[in-house]
Amino acid sequence: TDLAHIRNFAIVAHIDHGKSTLADRLIETCGGLAAREMTSQVLDSMDIERERGITIKAQTVRLLYRAKDGQDYTFNLIDTPGHVDFAYEVSRSMRACEGALLLVDATQGVEAQTLANAYQAIDANLELLPVLNKVDLPAAEPERIKQQIEDIIGLDASDALQISAKTGLGVPDVLEAIVKYLPPPTGDADAPLQALVIDSWYDPYLGVVTLFRVRNGVIRKGQKIRFMGTGAAHPVDRVGVMTPKPLLMDALGPGSVGFFTAAIKDIADARVGDTITDDRKPATVALEGFRPSQPVVFCGMYPAEADSYETLRDSLGKLRLNDASFEFEPESSGALGLGFRCGFLGLLHLEIIQERLEREFDLDLVITAPSVVYRVHMTDGTSYELHNPADYPDVTKIDHVEEPWIKASIMVPDEFLGPVLALCQEKRGVQQDMTYVGNRAMVVYRLPLNEVVFDFYDRLKSISRGYASFDYQLDGYGESDLVKLDILINSDKVDSLSMIVHRSMAELRGRNTCEKLQQLIPRQMFQVAIQAAIGGKIVARETVKAFRKDVLAKCYGGDISRKRKLLDKQKEGKKRMRQVGQIEIPQEAFLAALKMS
Ligand code: GTP
Repeated sequence: TDLAHIRNFAIVAHIDHGKSTLADRLIETCGGLAAREMTSQVLDSMDIERERGITIKAQTVRLLYRAKDGQDYTFNLIDTPGHVDFAYEVSRSMRACEGALLLVDATQGVEAQTLANAYQAIDANLELLPVLNKVDLPAAEPERIKQQIEDIIGLDASDALQISAKTGLGVPDVLEAIVKYLPPPTGDADAPLQALVIDSWYDPYLGVVTLFRVRNGVIRKGQKIRFMGTGAAHPVDRVGVMTPKPLLMDALGPGSVGFFTAAIKDIADARVGDTITDDRKPATVALEGFRPSQPVVFCGMYPAEADSYETLRDSLGKLRLNDASFEFEPESSGALGLGFRCGFLGLLHLEIIQERLEREFDLDLVITAPSVVYRVHMTDGTSYELHNPADYPDVTKIDHVEEPWIKASIMVPDEFLGPVLALCQEKRGVQQDMTYVGNRAMVVYRLPLNEVVFDFYDRLKSISRGYASFDYQLDGYGESDLVKLDILINSDKVDSLSMIVHRSMAELRGRNTCEKLQQLIPRQMFQVAIQAAIGGKIVARETVKAFRKDVLAKCYGGDISRKRKLLDKQKEGKKRMRQVGQIEIPQEAFLAALKMS
């Protein structure tokens, strides 16, 4: 295909504005799949994603379209994830495109992620085509939303398309508009190969699969390619495109988006953002890469039963093969035994990995409190990054501690503004900006990330009845008055319940945690004292009274098999418990203790 007949684009939208539905419709209209092969959301390959309706892995699909001018076009639709945790993956998908559809729900209007994604697209020099979705709904207000797009994003929306991805209304116009308004790629087929690695993942049948976008030159089967960043060179086994099923090709030239496989063992060799070139005729310069994604939230993951440790390690390794933004390393805890400290892009990312481990690998897990990465500066002039509150050093040796901050943009209808501001204030936020568009406010706050990982998002949603939308980016580190809060159970410090909190919040959080634990820890044969301490000082205390839970008492001596059943049942219940000293703590306690306000 010549370049003039290629269009590479993404669909960017706020969550639930209909991106996947539109993508499905485009695929269907272009006949990329026979109708019987259509599942509900073709682009989301992992079941769990489908369930959550969130696309994690950036994927691509090649579509063939015969336009009204009678000519055939190749479209590469690059899928982008919709959640704030994955903003980085959005930016890397955009690097493979010349244009994007800015999809806005005509009943909801511009939301925080519409704005964030639109700005990212503008930064990446993409041509943006505004599209109003869900106009089949009676509540749609296309004229008002057009005005909003102009006022908030500064994009001419007078000709915005009005469609229903659900009914198919206006979808043919979208295809025509892609041809007409989005620019074709540029590039030189005769120049040395330069292709950008958009993504790479491990496929059990094919090995490492690398998704790329060719800028210059041609990538072909049998060619020996080299990754310019790592220097690794491999002969190419297969080249192909996703339709969305893989379709093998002999070669792909400038402007193309496709995948290749080679005998690559480790996805670390096919680093996202690296440049692929020809080993024999290499390019002199690499393409501008992506900024690497950094895990920002860490927690401990432990097997509920110690003998699943190996399985957990293997499973984490397998997940990591497909998700380079997730990290893990072994750690041990007095309360929980052997496990792993894992790093994630955000809380949602953590939940997804946790669910996959439990579901796909059938593991029972105990997860410890999520923590951000602190920078600890010692009096001797050294400093280091702290990923685990349990490793907090002796306070007398600490000079000062810095914590990560974020810049959050929140869009919220007027009537909920008061509670939203109060929430930001309570979370130690510093207001930066506030503007109004119609009856909605956009507020920008700097907030400590450690306050946001607790329960900020859930509370924002509940105080605004779901109407507030939220987007954030990391915004540097700042010195803070932080202390380590320890939880003691019958005087034993439970390392996996330690947390680092701002001094002003420490007592309250200590009290809340003790109360929560008191409700969650079942009565034992002896009294259990739950205490919170800062340094050596006890700031809160609760007690669980003694009680004997004798399941056999119910059985009046009789049937032995019934007795055994009851004992087995009790044993089953025990699996989900963790022994701390002489006390068993249900695993919910480790997380629930942190989800409170
Ligand atoms: P994420 O993948 O979670 O980011 O969401 P998304 O933006 O891909 O949204 P999705 O396509 O899953 O659509 C969200 C909801 O809106 C679904 O229930 C769709 O059925 C519905 N929806 C999408 N397009 C339309 C439309 O044109 N009209 C109506 N009435 N509903 C629509």
